[in-house]
Amino acid sequence: EQDEIQNGVPCAFPPFDPDRDGFEPGTFPPGFMWGVASSAYQIEGGWNAGGKGPSIMDVHFQKGSAWSGQTGDVTCDSYNRYRDDVRILSELGVSHYRFSLSWPRLFPDGTRDSLNPEGVRYYNSLIDELLAHGIVPFVTLYHWDLPLALEEKYKGWLGEEVVELFNDYARFCFSEFGDRVKHWVTFNEPWSHVVVGSMVGMLPLVREKGRAGMYACAHNLIKAHGRAWHTYDKEFRAKQGGELGITLSCTWAEPKNPESEEDAAAAERLLQFHMGWFAHPIFLNGDYPDVMKEYIAKRSAEEGLAKSRLPEFTCEEKAMLKGTADFLGLNYYTARLTSALSAESLSKPDLLDEEDGDVHVGTHPDWPAPGIFFINVVPWGFRKVLNYMQNRYQVPLIYVTENGYHEEHMGEGQYDMKDARRSCYHAAHINELRKAIVHDGVNVRSYTVWCLMDNLEWESGFSQRMGLYHVDFTDPERKRTPKESAGFYRDVIKHNGFPE
Ligand code: NOJ
Repeated sequence: EQDEIQNGVPCAFPPFDPDRDGFEPGTFPPGFMWGVASSAYQIEGGWNAGGKGPSIMDVHFQKGSAWSGQTGDVTCDSYNRYRDDVRILSELGVSHYRFSLSWPRLFPDGTRDSLNPEGVRYYNSLIDELLAHGIVPFVTLYHWDLPLALEEKYKGWLGEEVVELFNDYARFCFSEFGDRVKHWVTFNEPWSHVVVGSMVGMLPLVREKGRAGMYACAHNLIKAHGRAWHTYDKEFRAKQGGELGITLSCTWAEPKNPESEEDAAAAERLLQFHMGWFAHPIFLNGDYPDVMKEYIAKRSAEEGLAKSRLPEFTCEEKAMLKGTADFLGLNYYTARLTSALSAESLSKPDLLDEEDGDVHVGTHPDWPAPGIFFINVVPWGFRKVLNYMQNRYQVPLIYVTENGYHEEHMGEGQYDMKDARRSCYHAAHINELRKAIVHDGVNVRSYTVWCLMDNLEWESGFSQRMGLYHVDFTDPERKRTPKESAGFYRDVIKHNGFPE
């Protein structure tokens, strides 16, 4: 079933059949950026090395709550081996590398008083090494590893104080690294952090407060994003000439019955609850989508609450938030088949997922799910969600900041290097991305593979692999070895797409 080549594209498994799915060879606009991504907690290790303070992720994983008790304590050891990373990045020929800064590595207790020079040196070395190899650093400020001290002192994102502390941290990063870093992402996937993160116990204080906690936490995070954008805009943009955005997990929602208005409304509601929660205030008008406000107000009233669980932005905050992103960082993995709930299920509020907009979320038997995740391979959903985000929220510019393929790890030396399915996955998605750009006029400037190399896949530990490079976690050197997909992607980059 593996390794079949059609039109120069490895076609290892459905759903990507180049004939059926309209594979269109062709290249991308000149200057299109091809990259790979990672994040600090998932690759760095050195959790208490070089003066770093603990983060909430260190504690969460050290408790042994995730897969087989695996942690990010060492993981790929990029804290010590970042030169190996840059070497393989340059082997791939990427134009950019998306990575994140660890806030507690720079500020062990989260505040500016605790500045850790060794942490600053680490990121300066990484950035300089990238630039020496002609690779553009694309930097995320927050990929979920909040300094533990802020969780203990202010209840993390539940505390208003963290908004200004994040702004201080961001200001420091702009002033220290901004002479060389021109692409900033404030937050990575706030939806996953807040909703999934609290469900799995990464944000225990949010979980205690249930939905109200999730909304409160996201509320502060959105304000922190807005404040940091203004700081960049006022104090740094003129002299540094960079840009700043936010990365959202953008899952497509397809109505189950295309004829049904209720299903279409359910799909739209899911999109608004999932992406609009953040995109609506930031890109459109400084406020949450109406459908979210109405729904949550209604549910809150039904439960006898005096006011809605969803906090409100003040007028000043709305004005402050509106238009605070130069671009959207778009992460795409999958689609959901969405339909309206029956009257019967709607009468059981305990069973509803208000944070999904109370819709029925499912999948389609034709959408393969290769990993253990609820992640089905639906390449055409990528084109749809790119169009949706640009049109619905008037997003001026999109960078695709993640797209990638999970595969279950079968043991060292097994099947890891022969990953035709991964190449196939990327071929299919790159093809849909090109259609969105060339046929639909979506303004997309980059494609970024998640991820450079195997790493700690959060709750799945090292059991799910997503890298273009294999990492041997039994090897003290953490050797990085290219999988077949690394060669495939290197060719795509070299040709700027799939030349005819
Ligand atoms: C989303 C996250 O940004 C990243 O940390 C994670 O590893 C990938 N998607 C894959 O699940």
